[in-house]
Amino acid sequence: MPKYETLNVELGERSYDIHVGDGLLAQAGALIKPVIRSQRVIVVTDENVAPLYLASLEISLDTAGLNSESIILPAGEQTKSIDYFEQLFDQILAMKIDRQCALIALGGGVIGDLTGFAAASVLRGIDFVQIPTTLLSQVDSSVGGKTGINSQHGKNLVGAFYQPRLVLADIDTLDSLPKREVLAGYAEVAKYGLIDNPDFFTWLEQIGCELCNGNKNHQHQAVVMSCRSKAKIVAEDETEQGRRALLNLGHTFGHTLEAETGFSEKLLHGEAVGLGICLAFDLSAHLGLCTQDDVNRVCAHYAAVGLPTSPTDVAGITWNTDALLDHMQSDKKIEDGKITFILAHAIGETFVARDIDMADARLIIDNAIRCD
Ligand code: NAD
Ligand code: GLY
Repeated sequence: MPKYETLNVELGERSYDIHVGDGLLAQAGALIKPVIRSQRVIVVTDENVAPLYLASLEISLDTAGLNSESIILPAGEQTKSIDYFEQLFDQILAMKIDRQCALIALGGGVIGDLTGFAAASVLRGIDFVQIPTTLLSQVDSSVGGKTGINSQHGKNLVGAFYQPRLVLADIDTLDSLPKREVLAGYAEVAKYGLIDNPDFFTWLEQIGCELCNGNKNHQHQAVVMSCRSKAKIVAEDETEQGRRALLNLGHTFGHTLEAETGFSEKLLHGEAVGLGICLAFDLSAHLGLCTQDDVNRVCAHYAAVGLPTSPTDVAGITWNTDALLDHMQSDKKIEDGKITFILAHAIGETFVARDIDMADARLIIDNAIRCD
């Protein structure tokens, strides 16, 4: 019998388990059946994931006595759009579902966020289960109930907090993930160390390269550690009234860079977060909050595993500070007209800063995009 570890996101009646382990797809039907209300499920996945894992999932659902249908969407960030959201809920409604029917998101963060938002909206809310198949979605997007889509005005600007009934993170699915996607997910893994767990970051400095090169034990341990960190923060602050904002380390700069690339393959979400984290540490050092050694250590680690650490590492983009600052003004992390940054006193000591002078942010961006 394959092994897995179970964590819990404690949210009262909306609490749910996260199972992390090998061979979980084969057990998915048996694990899902007790947490949903009907025999009928709709699997939502993308064109890359379907040929790899949909058949195994369907066999497992069938063996458990669940009737499944599937919807396969194009892969990529562009699918997290109003057009595909409409296409998805139309397809779901055309299947004549009732409120007991459940959705299963099989794929990365794009499929998870979109499917979760459909689950929150269709018939005013139906059950959904996350089966994340990228490192990024296993350590971050599948946990915590942030669902949604992008808009022409920015990333994740339309959505809902809506918790899944269960998360199944099958480490075996990472075997087929392209290295670039593994690295993008790794940027978010290291984020947990940088937020409040310096020992975890130190461990990652030792094993990060092996993890990114496919070491299953390290991947398993890192997914468990990351989900544990995230589950704790989400349980304390489900709707981001306070501490949950720390999970946005790197996102203020990162979303801005992503928006400027048009959410394209030029810069993956996780890569943007990694770059954003380097810039957030840069800004922290510039403001005298952390040391230059901290900045160097963070960037050196991201570089060591093979992640970009400067916007100038991104091919095919000419950056412009005004355009980047303009995107920043559209981000949802604005309160009373002030942009929220997550800054650091040290590695593992981050905090929410809402009083940053934009001249300082401008200087950091100016320096970062200069090619000399
Ligand atoms: P993704 O969903 O686009 O997946 C990346 C690529 O990998 C896609 O081409 C996909 O088809 C492919 N893929 C997925 N699993 C695979 C597998 N096992 N083998 C081979 N290929 C596979 O991207 P992502 O990095 O998983 O997620 C990024 C999205 O997650 C962004 O939209 C981001 O905003 C969102 N996100 C949400 C949260 C949240 O809390 N909801 C947190 C972080 C990120
Ligand atoms: N990825 C940030 C959050 O879930 O809050």
